Amino acid sequence: MNNISQLISLLGGTGVVAEKLKIQPSAVSNWKKVNKIPNNKHQAIYELSSNLDINIEKFFPEKKPINIDTSKVKILLIICGGIASYKSLEIIRLFKKSNFELDVVMTESAQKFITPLLVTSLNEKKCYTDLFSVEDETKMNHIKLARNPDIILVAPATANIIAKLANGIADDLASSILLASFSKIILAPSMNPVMWNNLATRENYEKLLDRGIKFIEPDTGDMACGESGTGRFPEPKLIFDVILSYINENRLFVNQFKNISIIITAGPTIEDIDPIRFISNKSSGKQGFEIASELTKRGAKVTLITGPVNIPFPKCEKVIEVTTADEMLDKVTQQLPADILICSAAVADWKLIPKTYSNKDIDINNKIKKTSDNLFFEALENPDILSTIANSNLRPKIVIGFSAETNSLKKNAYSKLISKNVDLIIANDVSNNRVFGKDFNKVCLIDKNNCEQLEKQTKKSVAFHIADKINDLLTNFNQ
Ligand SMILES: Cc1cc2nc3c(=O)[nH]c(=O)nc-3n(C[C@H](O)[C@H](O)[C@H](O)COP(=O)(O)O)c2cc1C
Repeated sequence: MNNISQLISLLGGTGVVAEKLKIQPSAVSNWKKVNKIPNNKHQAIYELSSNLDINIEKFFPEKKPINIDTSKVKILLIICGGIASYKSLEIIRLFKKSNFELDVVMTESAQKFITPLLVTSLNEKKCYTDLFSVEDETKMNHIKLARNPDIILVAPATANIIAKLANGIADDLASSILLASFSKIILAPSMNPVMWNNLATRENYEKLLDRGIKFIEPDTGDMACGESGTGRFPEPKLIFDVILSYINENRLFVNQFKNISIIITAGPTIEDIDPIRFISNKSSGKQGFEIASELTKRGAKVTLITGPVNIPFPKCEKVIEVTTADEMLDKVTQQLPADILICSAAVADWKLIPKTYSNKDIDINNKIKKTSDNLFFEALENPDILSTIANSNLRPKIVIGFSAETNSLKKNAYSKLISKNVDLIIANDVSNNRVFGKDFNKVCLIDKNNCEQLEKQTKKSVAFHIADKINDLLTNFNQ
């Protein structure tokens, strides 16, 4: 007998399950045949099992987040005052069991249903309840509580908290946190069906959906109040699974690079010839900015040192604007020590010094006039920032360079990796104006052991892969 057949028989058999779920017995037989229950029936099965002594987890084995250290994922659970408040205790247990970092806030109404003491003892951590607590304000104030978590789960979410959030009301700790947060907010509503279908709740729900707030939809069926309809709190395990799926789908790596300092150079440099003329290149800064943004999202302290660009700055710890290669090297050196250096800037290789064949002095502080003397330019090599830092005694643990090539991409990139003493080269083929200024990139990640060719994809997505690769390099470095 397979797993699902066993479960159906524990639940009373095919006929009983079909009758209780109001479906055809043939559907249940089919589940047994394929040894799988469709996802949209899990909730109903959980409920059927809740009155029986069945270890349901054996049949729906707990999903685990993929490749994610759950102890680094911060969840804030807000418990509101509804008939289902007690079910949030099971949610706490599930998060604790999977090692998530969990904080809990309770509304005043929630405390009429369950006590902060109970929550504190389950979570082995202070449960926050008061916006105006002198003690909490100094240690963990409402802004910190709002900014810390990766996900804020409101479960159960009352009609009241939904209305407050939709309308920007912040009159207690829970609603103030929700308003002051950048985190992903996920609401699991539970209420009487008439409240759920009330036009006010419908409008608030639509408003919040439009703002990117995620809902775990309430279930339909008999309610604790004796009525039936939509508004039942989904089973805690289902809510937990939705959060896990969200984490997996969004590959939430917040805090992966916590306490890691990263310097990123980006954009072109501009080397003046005179006050109005210069030599530069076509770099837009987009790839470096995307990397800065991705690593910031993953918790790194990113200092972005950028040449002149025409795109908005990403959200990161610090942005320093420079013009020339010399300035860029100066600023990078000033920002050291750091754990990682990523040189994505297209530093101009030369500065051009105007000369005349008659050796006449040229005043480069003023616009150079057309003269009868033939003008030519001496190319003076700029400093090689990547190689200078990689070979200095301030060398970060990991040094990464970019290699923009128009031919022999991998060969040239590999020789840079070795000659410049760096840990990773991101090589891209910039021939035929394929990359500069565009939103797409096709790169090859080359380290001493591997050459990983990525498909053509958005620069955002390339940044994502690079962040993953850096994480691997860091892990190897720390081993
Ligand atoms: C016994 C009882 C059960 C309640 N159950 C719910 C409920 O399931 N959902 C809901 O939205 N409100 C429910 N309420 C009403 C809320 O408790 C009330 O709107 C309160 O202001 C919510 O506060 P909060 O959102 O700050 O937690 C219930 C009230 C009582 C007295």
